[in-house]
Amino acid sequence: MNSINPTRRDALKLGAAGLATVAVTATGLNGTEAALPTAQNAPEWLTLLGKSEIGGRDYAPEVEGDLPAGLTGSLYRNGPGLFERGGVRKPHLLDGDGLVQRLSFANGEAHYQNAFVRTERFEKEAAAGRYLENSWSLRKPGGLAANFFQPHTGSQAGVTVYPFNGELYALDEVSPAYTLDPESLATIGGKQLGDPAHQFMIKAHTKIDPVTGEWLLVGVTHGRKMRLHAIVHGADGVLKSHQIIESPRQVYIHDFFATEHYFVFHLQPLFISMFGLLAGTSTYIDSMKWNGEEGTQVLLVPRDGGATRTFEAPGAFMWHALNAFERGEEIVADFVAYNAPDHFVGHDALLYQIMQGKLAPAKEAGTLRRYRMNLRDGKLREEIISADTHEFPIVDPRLATLAHRIGYMSAGGLHAINTGVKRFDFETGAEQAYDFGAASAVGEPVFAAKPDGGVDDGWLITQVLDGATQKSFFAIFDAATVGAGPIAKVRLAYSLPISFHGWWNAA
Ligand SMILES: [Fe+2]
Repeated sequence: MNSINPTRRDALKLGAAGLATVAVTATGLNGTEAALPTAQNAPEWLTLLGKSEIGGRDYAPEVEGDLPAGLTGSLYRNGPGLFERGGVRKPHLLDGDGLVQRLSFANGEAHYQNAFVRTERFEKEAAAGRYLENSWSLRKPGGLAANFFQPHTGSQAGVTVYPFNGELYALDEVSPAYTLDPESLATIGGKQLGDPAHQFMIKAHTKIDPVTGEWLLVGVTHGRKMRLHAIVHGADGVLKSHQIIESPRQVYIHDFFATEHYFVFHLQPLFISMFGLLAGTSTYIDSMKWNGEEGTQVLLVPRDGGATRTFEAPGAFMWHALNAFERGEEIVADFVAYNAPDHFVGHDALLYQIMQGKLAPAKEAGTLRRYRMNLRDGKLREEIISADTHEFPIVDPRLATLAHRIGYMSAGGLHAINTGVKRFDFETGAEQAYDFGAASAVGEPVFAAKPDGGVDDGWLITQVLDGATQKSFFAIFDAATVGAGPIAKVRLAYSLPISFHGWWNAA
């Protein structure tokens, strides 16, 4: 793992080029003439979220504080880690080749590794020294002829990571998933989930049912009409069902809810224009158009098949579900959502501007919300539980699809880039929060259960970019006392790019 391969050398060269010297504008990348609006410069530390990592790290980092006895296992994380090739820089912070990280703990010591997922496109593009395929925010070279009828292809395997049935999966929003060696992080290869007879874009977010052990996945197919895919693999990995449902609208979704009996699709009014996408004139992100007044449609699909139901909700953009469960005649769904995705969509959006070294704070907060969907009267009631700003909501994975009381999430700071961690009690409304300070970017807290502990008895591990040192660290909290701050930190000697999602695998 310590060897430097040709791709790592490429990345080193690109990393050395740095943000300031890679002059890229939306015009250069997209072939359009739209000028970027002027914005103030982003603080240098914040732009490190979009700095390429070299990959191949493998060492024992410095530990501050005492690692808890009993914390034994591996945190895996995934997110974009390579943002440039051949002098071309990805224009959107959420768009890069997947960098999987492993932070393992044993005998009171920590060990850190990371590696790029060697997807088919990564290998080809590394060999060529330039981008060859399109992605979320970048069209492939070759203009219209090359991009005609080529929507969003080639998995970067850079959004989520899940240990399941003895394998470690890295997922993107494009098939296939990739499996990795859970020890070395070496890429094993692509793996088609769901029914291989169907072509679809798999979604990165999945649910593991803690009662049945089943793995629930979803996907979409864009076309004249959008189709939704609802997939169940058994605990043994074998495909149990693959339903295809016609969607009432063609929209972008990122995550979904699942309960004991239902897949719940949040069909938010972020419409996808198929014309630009298929004509090759728009990237996937640029084909999205927010129309909040159209409202959100929430579609219930029975896990075992049967008739679907649709609920109407106010327009809200959701990246991430916290959890959902059935309670009597109701379905309760908790999540973080925005009145509009102004941090994400459009060339003046925060996540776009950061990659140009600019700061464009978003207006809309990621508020904590609850839907209560009444199966008897067909009505959906929405409650804004906390109007603060949040992202990356999670529950103890042992409660996925079941009733939860406690939720954990990142919180505070700029909308969509948080500075702290919050624990929220949905029964009492009590919250505990810890903030790392304004010059911090805090990622998803991942829940690590304590050995032999009950539900919600565990630790939270989160990745933090520290603006003061311009380096990253991992913070470990006792999940019960988030407000007291981290009990230990694992400090790295460099900064890490933005990382989306993680999973804990106890040893
Ligand atoms: Fe996500």
